[in-house]
Amino acid sequence: MTIPLFRRSILSALAAMPLGLFHPAVRAQDRLPLLTVWRDPNCGCCSGWLAHMRAAGFQVRDNVVASPAPARRMLGIPDDLMSCHAAQVGGFALEGHVPALAVKRLLEERPAAVRGIAVPGMPIGSPGMEVSGQVPDVYDVIAFEHGRGRSVFMRFRGGEPL
Ligand code: CU
Ligand code: CU
Repeated sequence: MTIPLFRRSILSALAAMPLGLFHPAVRAQDRLPLLTVWRDPNCGCCSGWLAHMRAAGFQVRDNVVASPAPARRMLGIPDDLMSCHAAQVGGFALEGHVPALAVKRLLEERPAAVRGIAVPGMPIGSPGMEVSGQVPDVYDVIAFEHGRGRSVFMRFRGGEPL
């Protein structure tokens, strides 16, 4: 019994190796957790944000709902940080047009006190809110904690981090 099991584990280890060696980009994307979104059917900019997140490698579970408010309450997103859609990824809450770069940083750093990050309102030039001919806004990605704590997680001009 012992020997065949041992051999099998060596064989499976060898079989797994080439993936890690030759497809590092694919492996990196495999590690991104599923992104679950709640959005209003009439919101065009929400689809734009979903396209941005998919292009960044996220798999999306898309919930088109009459109102994202119940999801927002469930996720503990503060009212004053509200935007047009709510989401959940890797145990964190997201609200609004948060750039994928900020979401990936959140997932890497996993700050213990942080419940989620939000881009309140709908800044011009944020992912999904690009308006041709309009100067992109400077806006903050706000980290909110389980308590009342807030901090600026990142700052962007349009899609570019500052
Ligand atoms: Cu929007
Ligand atoms: Cu939206």
